[in-house]
Amino acid sequence: MKSLLWIRWTLGLLLLCTADADSGRKPNFVFMMVDDLGIGDLGCYGNTTLRMPNIDRLTLEGVKLTQHIAAAPLCTPSRAAFLTGRYPIRSGMAAHGRMGVFLFSASSGGLSQEEITFAKAVKEQGYSTAIIGIYHVNKWNLIVKCYQNADHCHHPNSHGFDYFYGTIMTHLRDCQPGHFLYGHIPYKMQESGPEGIGLVSLALLHIKGMIAVTRRVVFGFLVLVGLVVSLFGVLVYTFPNLNCFVMRGPEIVEQPYTSDNLTQRMTSEAKDFFFYRNSERPFLLFFSFLQVHTGLFASPLFRGRSQHGLYGDAVMEVDWSVGQIMQTLERLNLKENTLVYMTSDQGPHLEEISINGEMHGGYSGIYKAGKSTNWEGGIRIPGILHWPGVLPAGKVIDEPTSNMDIFPTVLNLAGASIPSDRVIDGHDLLPLLQGQVERFEHEFMFHYCNAQLNAVRWHPPNSNAIWKAFFFTPDFYPENSSACFHTHICLCIKPYVTFHDPPLLYDLSKDPTESTPLSPDTEPQFYSVLEVIRAAVSHHAESLKPVPVQVSPLQIVWKPWLQPCCSSLSQKGKTKHFLAKFVSR
Ligand SMILES: *[C@@H]1O[C@H](CO)[C@@H](O)[C@H](O)[C@H]1NC(C)=O
Repeated sequence: MKSLLWIRWTLGLLLLCTADADSGRKPNFVFMMVDDLGIGDLGCYGNTTLRMPNIDRLTLEGVKLTQHIAAAPLCTPSRAAFLTGRYPIRSGMAAHGRMGVFLFSASSGGLSQEEITFAKAVKEQGYSTAIIGIYHVNKWNLIVKCYQNADHCHHPNSHGFDYFYGTIMTHLRDCQPGHFLYGHIPYKMQESGPEGIGLVSLALLHIKGMIAVTRRVVFGFLVLVGLVVSLFGVLVYTFPNLNCFVMRGPEIVEQPYTSDNLTQRMTSEAKDFFFYRNSERPFLLFFSFLQVHTGLFASPLFRGRSQHGLYGDAVMEVDWSVGQIMQTLERLNLKENTLVYMTSDQGPHLEEISINGEMHGGYSGIYKAGKSTNWEGGIRIPGILHWPGVLPAGKVIDEPTSNMDIFPTVLNLAGASIPSDRVIDGHDLLPLLQGQVERFEHEFMFHYCNAQLNAVRWHPPNSNAIWKAFFFTPDFYPENSSACFHTHICLCIKPYVTFHDPPLLYDLSKDPTESTPLSPDTEPQFYSVLEVIRAAVSHHAESLKPVPVQVSPLQIVWKPWLQPCCSSLSQKGKTKHFLAKFVSR
């Protein structure tokens, strides 16, 4: 009897010890972000015609957030906010002008070294970190400097990623052979290009006849035209080389890249990362899909398989990749110790119509408008969190959450301290996900379009209301002849927007489609709600510090002397060695 007790005690202690050792182990992180994917594209968010079994499974086994909000409706600022847990306006990643994203790999702007990304923070806690896919916030030259000369920065990569396989830029139509400038110039104008040149020449001849223009002027003008045309030709010819290349760490390994099988190659890079990582350490992988941004592509295996053209095929390929990643985690017995997060960078690009008239943008479901607007369709993104045994299975949460919440959640789980010398706008999601709290901490959310405060969301603590007040709105309707349609994407500056005073007010809890703005007649609290929102705005404004703008026209513009070019193209198949060098040390 005594010995039995002794055995039970020892066993108990042993169990306690192993449990302790297990709970002390830090979790791994796998984040998957799809470019431009609409919330309405996903089966688990209500789509009945687009099949995504792997992503659906994530929600069945994990938590689905229905009011998950991108910090900005455009890729560069939204990604910067995701990485840092801060509104883009705080890191200088919000533009003051017309253009809010990076367009060239060789531009001088980028996320400042002062910013702390979640990768940097967990790396200091002993994590192996990797990004596979699009970066879109970094100054490429810093990446190279960091790798080549460790003295230039404290981390192999300036923002804390040990391993990088992917592209600096979002995938653009221009990256596809023969597509330069398609989508930027309306198709009609492209067609009439040659006629245009003819007309100009004709006009010139007429002018010559009418007024006495010296031969010299005409000659000079023709030389100038010739120069411009040939420069343009050179640019058209070399553009894919300049912008569309795949890097592995500091080296360009494919230039220009072919989009065929690119997602498959990236998926196998991710698997290699899992296989060859230093298994003594926890890891963080940010898998950032090039799909489903235009120019659309899908591997031969997926082409023609969906009911929704090339767009649907691309989404199916993304789902396949998610499945591969999850299967690998399972095979390596990592599922129970890995927090998986799946999302999009913002809403779908509704104005994307191919030159053949095929819809190349996604679907925002019941929500209004899409990418580059702060209507719900532009900022409501899928938010799926998966961690069997720690997060409940099949739970759905309607509270407002943000893609900035990943930052503090990850830091807390990794044992890193939240930076106290700066404002962090995200909140730790774990108590909400685990059901320890019902209400989340985002009482107010500030919806910026570039650096302009566009709208404010208020979820008062003691009510179910979700007020949203717009100070201005993009001219999105009528859909096919609106300003947004003509400029190919909604812009948030005059004359492309309408200002509202008093602001347009909605209650999203009753009107999620933002169809009927409230008025003092229909909403007794109209003025008092706006009063609270105004006070919140001035409080928020006080917390902003001036920072150098990273997305100004001068920072965005192409700088030939910064152009990454032509490094070793013989790196294919060297993942193993590369990982050995950068991850396992
Ligand atoms: C599913 O997504 C596709 C592709 O974006 C879209 O065209 C379609 O309308 C959606 N279907 C439903 C039923 O939501």
